[in-house]
Amino acid sequence: MIHRAVCPGSFDPITMGHVDIFRRAAQQFDEMVVLVTGNPNKPSGLFSISERVELAEKAVADLPNVTVDWWGGLLVDYTTKHDIGVIVKGLRSALDYEYEVPMAQMNRSLSGVDTMFFMTNPKYGHVSSTLCKEVIKYGGDIHDVLPPD
Ligand code: PNS
Repeated sequence: MIHRAVCPGSFDPITMGHVDIFRRAAQQFDEMVVLVTGNPNKPSGLFSISERVELAEKAVADLPNVTVDWWGGLLVDYTTKHDIGVIVKGLRSALDYEYEVPMAQMNRSLSGVDTMFFMTNPKYGHVSSTLCKEVIKYGGDIHDVLPPD
């Protein structure tokens, strides 16, 4: 049996916190998809879906069992379609936990797919896409928490 996982998120933009989770999770599965979620016809956020996919592809280029895809629908429709048994998420804090638990339970009740959580590397515990966007907007330097170009 092939163990497949998906790491979904808006990834607007992808951060080193995300990449650290991708690398650790990829070691636990045969195949893993980093899935950029969102609707390309209804752009929202700083980066377009195709820019987010491109940044993610660069960040995981050296991981042979990881691919990048995007999806504009329900996550469970993607996992069912691609025979993926596990959703991988990162947890920084209890705030993330409160946000993630209902989604994990909803996804499981919709399709039976399970969610596994990886604790964020403390080095990146303060890093979020939202804060990165805020710092970028005002011209701050956050290159150390974004994947290298
Ligand atoms: O980067 P985020 O905002 O933490 O990602 C949340 C995301 C995109 C994983 C979640 O919103 C999602 O699964 N969206 C796809 C649509 C869907 O299935 N929604 C119901 C979730 S129970």
